[in-house]
Amino acid sequence: MTNIVANEYGSMLFHGNCVTCHFETKDVSAPSMMRVKENYLRAFPKKEDFVAYMSRWVKNPNEKTSIMLGDIKKYELMPYLHYDMESLEEISAYIYETDFDKEHKGHK
Ligand code: HEC
Repeated sequence: MTNIVANEYGSMLFHGNCVTCHFETKDVSAPSMMRVKENYLRAFPKKEDFVAYMSRWVKNPNEKTSIMLGDIKKYELMPYLHYDMESLEEISAYIYETDFDKEHKGHK
C-alpha cells in the first residue's frame, strides 16, 4: 500500500509530530524512535503486523497493550494524540522503513 508519496507523507507527519518527544536516536523525554522500533521489530517482524499494532496503540495509548512497560514507568504513559488511523498507518510504515541510526550518521 505504501508508495513513495505515502512514505514522504509519513516522514512529514513523523518529523512534524513525533520528534517533539521521540528523538531519532537519543532517549530524552521519551524513548528514542530507534529504540521503539527495535522493540516493535522484535515483537512484529512483518511490516503489516508492525504497522497494524503500532498505529492501533498510538490511537489508544494503553498500559495493557504496551510492549514497553519499563518506559511507561520511566517516562509515564504517552499522551493521546488526535490522529486518524490512516495518518498513523503512514507514520508507522515510515518508521518501519527508516533506519534512524543510519539517517542520523548521514545528517551528522
Ligand atoms: C508528548 C510526548 C510524545 C509524543 C508527541 C509522542 N510520543 Fe510516543 N511515547 C511517548 C512516551 C513518554 C513513551 C513511553 C511510554 C509509553 O510507552 O507509553 C512513548 C511510547 C511510544 C510507543 C511505544 C508504545 C508501547 O508499546 O509502550 C510508540 C509506538 C510511540 N510512542 C509512537 C509515537 C508516534 C508514532 C508518535 C507521533 C505520531 C508519538 N509516539 C508521539 C511520548 C510521546
